[in-house]
Parts: sequence; C-alpha cells; structure tokens
Amino acid sequence: MGEDFFPIKGYDHVEFYVGNAKQAAHFYDKTFGFTPLAKRGLETGCRDRASYVMQQGNVRFVFTSAYAPDHEVTRHCALHGDGVKAMALTVANVETALKEARTRGATVLKETTPEEDEHGTVVTAEIKYAGDTVFRLVERGNYRGAFAPGFQEIEAQRDASPVGLASIDHIVTNVYLGEMDFWADWYAKVLGFTNLAHFTDKDISTEYSALMSKVMENGTGKCKFPINEPAEGKKKSQIDEYLDYYNGPGVQHVAMTTGNIYDTVTELRSRDIDFLRVPDTYYDYMRERVGDVDEDWNRLQELGILVDKDDDGYLLQIFTAPVQDRPTLFYEVIERHGSRGFGIGNFKALFVSIEREQALRGNL
Ligand code: FE2
Repeated sequence: MGEDFFPIKGYDHVEFYVGNAKQAAHFYDKTFGFTPLAKRGLETGCRDRASYVMQQGNVRFVFTSAYAPDHEVTRHCALHGDGVKAMALTVANVETALKEARTRGATVLKETTPEEDEHGTVVTAEIKYAGDTVFRLVERGNYRGAFAPGFQEIEAQRDASPVGLASIDHIVTNVYLGEMDFWADWYAKVLGFTNLAHFTDKDISTEYSALMSKVMENGTGKCKFPINEPAEGKKKSQIDEYLDYYNGPGVQHVAMTTGNIYDTVTELRSRDIDFLRVPDTYYDYMRERVGDVDEDWNRLQELGILVDKDDDGYLLQIFTAPVQDRPTLFYEVIERHGSRGFGIGNFKALFVSIEREQALRGNL
C-alpha cells in the first residue's frame, strides 16, 4: 500500500438543504435526540439563509433553508426535496488536500476559504460529487467556537435527551445504472480510497428488483462510502424509485453507530420513528444462520433489529422509513461486534420489506 495522499481525520458534519430548517431542527431534536448547538440566520446577520447545527455524540448535522425563491438552496429543495447537500470531512490542511484532489481530477466548486472570528479560523473548500452533492473539506485547527465563524452558539434551554447515537458509520449514495464504477474509480483516483467490498445483483436481488453496490473506504478506514446502482429487475427497483423522486443521484442513507441498539431503537420507537419491518420468518432463518451470537433473539424480533455475521464478527442493524414525503433519504442504526460488513445477509429480507412499502406507494 502506498502513502495515503488524502489523509482524513473523520466525518466533520453533514449538511442538509431543507424546506424549513427551523422545523427540521425541531424534528431531529425531539425524535432522533440531537441537541441544538449553533445557528445562523437573520438574527446573526446572515441575510440569505438560516442554518441550525445539531449534535449527538460525534454526529453533527446542519439543516439549512433559504429566504428567497431563486436561492440555490430553494432550487435544490424544489428539485430534490429535503436531502443531503454536503458530506464534510475534517482534514489537517484544506489547501494541501484540495491541491491533491484537483491534481487528481476533482472539480473544485469552492476554493480554499478561511473564515475567522474571535474563536479562531475555520478553513473550507468544496469539490463536486455525484449529482448536486458535494464533498466539503474542513480544517478546524484550534478553532474554539461552537461550530464555525458566522454561527452563534445556542444556549442549552433544557437537558439534552440523546438516544445514544455515537458516530457516523457510513454514508450511501445512489447513482444511475452504469455510473457506480465511475464513482468508485473517482474515490480511488481523486481521494485515494480503496474498494472494501463489492456486491453484484447476484448477491442482492429479489423477484422484483436488484442492485449492485461497491463500498469505498479511506486510508484509515474511518470513512466508508458505499455506492449503489440499480440492476435490471422485473420491475422498478428501490434505487430507481429513489432516483425518480430525488431527480438524480444523491445520498440514500446515513448509518449511525450506537453502543446499545436495544435502548436506542426502543427510545426512537417511543418518539414515533418508523422502522422497516421484516417478516417474522426472517428471525427463524437468521437464528439458524447466525444463531451463536450472544443476543436476546426475542428482543431483537420484538424491536425489528436485524443481525448479520461474517468472518470478523457480527453486527446488529435497523433501517428507518424515509424521513420525508419523497421516498428518498432514510437512516440506519448499527451496532458492530467485530464485523466490518454492511449486512449483506439482510439485504434480501430487507428488500422484500422495502418493496412491500414501494407497492403501497404505487411505485412497483
Ligand atoms: Fe448501510
């Protein structure tokens, strides 16, 4: 293995463009248990957009909406609905990272931009990724403020009520048929990532739909980005449905880790988060397949948590329903016990469940 020419410290944040950032922030506060950290908007002197920074564990989400109809954020929402605009990665030096990426073929959308306030300096830059999604590079140095210059810290109004989400595990993109290899090569060439796993439609197919997936990870293995593309199926695949409603490629789901998936899911269910439900027969089959894991099968089944096992260990995971009206973005909660996989053994059972909901939407 050569030297890592694009060293990444980790995920910095994910920025969503939404129709109503104030209400989105409230939703993520009351349901997913994020705590308001900082904001910008008219009150802080930002005249064109409002943003709310929400945090839980090491997961930081930023929700942004604009004040004007012809604003980039408003147009993004009109076309895509609420969704992920930027995946931000923390790097030691934005200028060096951007230079490296540009030399290797990145399309630079925002040049190295330092911003300063009394707490220090934050440097950012952006490069184009699939569709209208971008990668944002963030250099925090010894910045001591709540988030970044221009943002005002939100004083805690009450005790936080987190659900145990600890960090981002991976972020998945859906692309059109034939584009997966292009973007996998792009990760390798531009960001120095390697291919961790490859699933073909032989691994992931049901009677109706099929998809192919490649998982790319950075040099340290901290950041993982699977890419899905639809494969020929009898009917419209869930990836096709996403692409139709998002009007292009974009982020399909963000997976977040927890140290106790039973508690996290119990809490999320009590706050009205909807999860995909697999048929009860799934548990008979899984108990046979991975039966020797030290888990409470009755509770797993009761909460709808999925299990998968590979040579390195096992994982527990669950998927939410889409979190907006368009059948686009959703979340995964994952607890890893050694496994570095993505639950391939669950895909089929899961797809049957997704297709059942797709049929209800009249899109199958
Ligand atoms: Fe996932």
